[in-house]
Amino acid sequence: MTIARLAREEIQALKPYEAAVQVDDTIRLNANEAPWTSSGDHFRRPLNRYPEIRPAQLRAALAGRYGCDAGNLLVTRGTSEAIDLLIRVFCRAGRDSIVTTRPTFSMYRHYANVQGALLREVATSRENDFAVAAGEILDACDDTTRLIFLCSPNNPTGTTLPRTTLQEVLEERRNQSAVVVDEAYIEFADEPSVVELLDRNDNLIVLRTLSKALAFAGARCGSVIGPREVIDMLDAVQAPYALATPVVECVENALQAESLSEADSWVTQVISERERLIAALAESTFVKHIWPSSANFFLMQVKDAELLMQRSSTDKVLLRYFGGVLSDCVRITVGTPNENDRLLETIARVAEV
Ligand SMILES: Cc1ncc(COP(=O)(O)O)c(C=O)c1O
Repeated sequence: MTIARLAREEIQALKPYEAAVQVDDTIRLNANEAPWTSSGDHFRRPLNRYPEIRPAQLRAALAGRYGCDAGNLLVTRGTSEAIDLLIRVFCRAGRDSIVTTRPTFSMYRHYANVQGALLREVATSRENDFAVAAGEILDACDDTTRLIFLCSPNNPTGTTLPRTTLQEVLEERRNQSAVVVDEAYIEFADEPSVVELLDRNDNLIVLRTLSKALAFAGARCGSVIGPREVIDMLDAVQAPYALATPVVECVENALQAESLSEADSWVTQVISERERLIAALAESTFVKHIWPSSANFFLMQVKDAELLMQRSSTDKVLLRYFGGVLSDCVRITVGTPNENDRLLETIARVAEV
């Protein structure tokens, strides 16, 4: 059995949009395109033509990078689009639910609300370093739970999900829920991606992005990786021509060996800067606690978070404040060594107050 049968029935029956065929070296009078190219068009492929409905080479290149078959991957406009597509495909408004943790990336809640899906959040505690308990996730699930979103490393805590926890959730929810592991920050972690577990777990779905470690957030390019039947349904729902020609070209550049090795060295630098910042800030009298992080950010508990937010913004250094259960915390993204030095100066000044 495949988890594709958990999807909304009308989506299981949906046929993909039939685009006009595109054949090289032909006169194309079949797609109502303009026959001329604008003088403002400086791309390798002419913009008067629609892009490929789904960029095949890019899909193959990303599948190669992530270690899966191209048929198991859909290229999306950032992982954000993948989250939206998954919830739309699997959840009937007002009837089906998603389970996730708290605190975590707010986009799961956002798109659950957009679709009218029910949402259950399992609280994790700061005392326990925001560890996720498989039993609590399973207790939050019922017959309506179509999707479980687990973010690893988790935004905003930086915590990774142990394989044993994931495996327990996957096994207990087999044939009942798809388990989506959001690996937006996995390149900054010591652990390998869980893509390698896909063969043995047909209810596992993995999200990857070029927005973080590859430094291509502006290109909006993510991937959803999972069972072929699920990928085909997401494909049928995604807008035709979702990836614009300029995006496809710029992502092709990002995947060249030179850009990839450059990205690897940035990742190494970010990790060492993260540890430098954490060590320096741990000495500050203003800082109460810093949670270990496997991402390009870390969460820090301070004496007065609102004061820090005010002072840092006056110093033109932007930090992220969430309020709620994290009202005494700020999330800090690791910048360049100079930017990080500026942050340390700001915090040193706030500590003097
Ligand atoms: C955990 C997590 N997943 C996904 C995203 C979205 O990434 P993308 O730029 O690929 O849409 C973010 C962005 O901050 C994130 O923190």
